[in-house]
Amino acid sequence: MEFLKFSKATWLCIVLATTVSAQSKCPASDYGPAAGVIESPGFAQHVNYGNDMSCTYNIKVAEGSKILLTVDSLITETCCDRVYVYDGPNTHSRVLIIWSGHLGAGSFVESTGNVVTVTFQSDNTVNAAGFSIRYAPSNAHLTPTTTAKPKLQIVNWKDRSTYWNSRPSPTDIHALVLHHTVDPTVQATYDALNNRHLSVHYIAAKNGTIYQLVDEANRAWHAGTGTWGSYTNMNDISIGIEIVNTGDEPFPTVQENAVAELSAQIVKRWKILPKNIVAHADFQEYDKTDVSGYFDFKLFYAALDMYPGLYTTKLSESDQKKVLYQASTTYSAAVKSIQERLQKYGYYLTADGIFGSATQLVVEAFNRHYCPEIFKQEEIVNGNEVRFAQNKRWYGISEERLAYLVAHS
Ligand SMILES: *[C@@H]1O[C@H](CO)[C@@H](O)[C@H](O)[C@H]1NC(C)=O
Ligand SMILES: [Zn+2]
Repeated sequence: MEFLKFSKATWLCIVLATTVSAQSKCPASDYGPAAGVIESPGFAQHVNYGNDMSCTYNIKVAEGSKILLTVDSLITETCCDRVYVYDGPNTHSRVLIIWSGHLGAGSFVESTGNVVTVTFQSDNTVNAAGFSIRYAPSNAHLTPTTTAKPKLQIVNWKDRSTYWNSRPSPTDIHALVLHHTVDPTVQATYDALNNRHLSVHYIAAKNGTIYQLVDEANRAWHAGTGTWGSYTNMNDISIGIEIVNTGDEPFPTVQENAVAELSAQIVKRWKILPKNIVAHADFQEYDKTDVSGYFDFKLFYAALDMYPGLYTTKLSESDQKKVLYQASTTYSAAVKSIQERLQKYGYYLTADGIFGSATQLVVEAFNRHYCPEIFKQEEIVNGNEVRFAQNKRWYGISEERLAYLVAHS
């Protein structure tokens, strides 16, 4: 950020006062072994943290101790400025919890080992007071019996839907399908499903409350007849979650955490393979764009302990913006190779070496799911929000991530 010189007109300084005073330098990065406090930039000076911040706090206590983190105060922009707590020496470790929004004093989380990594990420708009979080070595016998992680709230709405039937085989459940609703509320989603004679197993409200419409053993009507890998009728073998979201807005952390928690339970219950956790757009007959690029799959997979190596590299801006293949009717061996690997992973397309509209849509779906940073980049252009851009554009595919997925499935 550029700071204003005093020679500028005074009114500008007043208008921009909050921006000018926002703190944009991260505090120290190494903490421990004794108990102490980590704070957001500027917290001690009563100054808001800055935009686009990325601060890391490495906390290490004596071998054999765990670390108890307790929030004294935490106020951040709910959607977009987040504190990530990782259960180990770096950000590839498992995510213990993500804190954002307004948290009262006393929320806490405990590590499993003597090292945690905390990162604070803010986006490019809106800042707030930030946080002060205490850390202390804790011994196993002092382990708290509850954690700050909210318990999943599932409301039974199973008597409210008639638009489902029995599965061909009630225990043949192999896939989890994530949707966003387009409709802005649980009620509107429920009404829309009923009006169209459709259903889904779960609806996840913005505040994290889950509404169950259909038993998992039954066949909800949410996924059409799309093909994924060897499965040709997704409703027969999948469980669906509709996430309340219009498709062009971020997902609140509390909602993403609840969806991850519910998914973790489903995946464990039915032993669903990582590659069979799909977004609707991954398999439907190419007219679907859900779940949108705003959905934080990085957080999602971390919560499920899946694909630990998938998001470890940062796609450079030029990689993100590079259009690798233009739609074309000319045969290309490189296109054929990409098509074959996408197909091997599960996507439905013909490996004909021609970058036609079907391949273009599959690449788009792949990027929305596995390269979400591409979509985040698009939110603001020239000071304007680009509505729906995240669903309309396609870029070069991340070869590295495709290779990783094919190798780990
Ligand atoms: C969550 O949101 C739903 C409506 O979307 C509301 O009915 C419910 O009371 C809310 N729950 C909490 C705990 O705020
Ligand atoms: Zn859908």
